[in-house]
Amino acid sequence: MARETESGLPIEPVYGPDALQGWDPAEKLGEPGAYPYTRGVYPTMYTGRPWTMRQYAGFGTAAESNARYRRLIAHGTTGLSVAFDLPTQMGHDSDAPLARGEVGKVGVAVDSVEDMRVLFDGIPLDRVSTSMTINAPAALLLLLYQLVAEEQGVGADRLTGTIQNDVLKEYIARGTYIFPPKPSLRLTADIFRYCTAEIPRWNTISISGYHMAEAGASPAQEIAFTLADGIEYVRTVRAAGMDVDDFAPRLSFFFVARTTLLEEVAKFRAARRIWARVMREEFGARDPRSWMLRFHTQTAGVQLTAQQPEVNLVRVAVQALAAVLGGTQSLHTNSFDEAIALPTETSARLALRTQQVLAHETDVPATVDPFAGSYAVERMTNGLEEAALDLMRRVADLGGAVAAIERGFQKTEIERNAYRIARETETGERVVVGVNRFRLDEEEPYVPLRVDPAVESRQCERLARLRAGRDRRAVRAALDALRTAAEGEGNVLYPMKEALRVRATVGEVCGALREVWGSHVPSDMF
Ligand code: 3HC
Repeated sequence: MARETESGLPIEPVYGPDALQGWDPAEKLGEPGAYPYTRGVYPTMYTGRPWTMRQYAGFGTAAESNARYRRLIAHGTTGLSVAFDLPTQMGHDSDAPLARGEVGKVGVAVDSVEDMRVLFDGIPLDRVSTSMTINAPAALLLLLYQLVAEEQGVGADRLTGTIQNDVLKEYIARGTYIFPPKPSLRLTADIFRYCTAEIPRWNTISISGYHMAEAGASPAQEIAFTLADGIEYVRTVRAAGMDVDDFAPRLSFFFVARTTLLEEVAKFRAARRIWARVMREEFGARDPRSWMLRFHTQTAGVQLTAQQPEVNLVRVAVQALAAVLGGTQSLHTNSFDEAIALPTETSARLALRTQQVLAHETDVPATVDPFAGSYAVERMTNGLEEAALDLMRRVADLGGAVAAIERGFQKTEIERNAYRIARETETGERVVVGVNRFRLDEEEPYVPLRVDPAVESRQCERLARLRAGRDRRAVRAALDALRTAAEGEGNVLYPMKEALRVRATVGEVCGALREVWGSHVPSDMF
């Protein structure tokens, strides 16, 4: 029976030389670390330096999350990745009515510089790279990080890390947007300019396909819509007057790794090739670093099951292997209990151990891009490249990513694929071990980690003390200056930093911007 890949492309039982007729390795592959980067962005890849083991974590208060980060570092994690709670992601303080019931739940609550100080207590910021999954309020959290680094005596030129800062995919798939697209993109341009001038080693954005994949996007859709978002950012920031080579080297990406290992490896390789060509040929970038698609990978949360959760350990190992064979720069392996609750201490450690086994016990990191020249994988790389380029052309025909978002194009396409997956699972055509095949009569009991509900009241008390103890006039003046900058054309990050320094809260700073820029109201096509 003919089979199809997750992207709906044919997959043959056997591939031979025919699959690569007319295929020119010089054009399609090049050398590792050289254009078009199909084989990876660095010449030596993991033989020079292993990928960063960057476990996404954070819950409850800053103190609890700080303890988790220190334990992860002690267990051998090589980068930090901060999860913020929903109120922080939406720019609300913990005591806001909209925050009720959500404080500290899916990540850590950060209301002010005081929480940020506790979050990184005892962690030298010049020696760790930190990713922060924060989008609409990305500028605020970055500035809070910079303020804490200054307190530690670490200059901004030594800071390394990433802010997610990808609002376009929030409109498509993730939902934590605040402002409408236009001011959001202006803020993105301000952040890029600020980082180029002040924090030059910072990755200013993590253009993300992961959440689209979680919402049901196929691999081809995932890379096409993500790269189309990337194109929109590059266009916007150039239109705001920056030279492409001044910011493109610090763009980064974020993808999923599914259990369909071969197609995923092909996906990462195709994405690198497409981006290199777009940057060099469409945007005329001259700095080779601008052509490089560097990316973080997270194993597919959506493929984990609540039934027989320990089977997820196996899935995660396969997914992580796909990411490594595909040349990822940084990796998060999900914990096996993530389909049920927040990871426990033990499951979080096991997830990290999975990466350590791949890095230290397998031979996979010993040679660069081991699939190069494989009839099957090169054919699949070509197929994905064509499918993604086709979708990217459709986005371009609609007027680019923002125009397509406004038409609901990406969402509708992703939704259609999600429906296909759901239908196949329901009919049993798609096997999910432990769910529609190989079930247990009775699931074994599992004790999940629960966030203490008292976190919310403790966080609100902390906020009340902060508000009572700060210089109110200085806060008011700083927020006024921020509003004025937002109304005009100046870079809002400078007055924003001053407001945060005098202990204005995340909610207050976002509130000031909401007053000027308004809030986004989605126009759903469903
Ligand atoms: N030879 C020479 N140099 C090498 C090398 C090699 N083989 N390998 C690495 N290096 C160098 C690099 O050049 C770099 O140096 P630089 O800082 O001077 O540029 C340094 O070593 C670090 O390497 P990388 O940049 O490759 O790795 P990082 O880990 O620092 O960065 C990244 C990776 C993808 C560019 C970055 O953006 C990143 O870390 N992203 C992480 C994003 C993340 O964690 N997101 C979490 C999302 S969770 C989420 O969204 C939540 C939910 O909703 C699912």
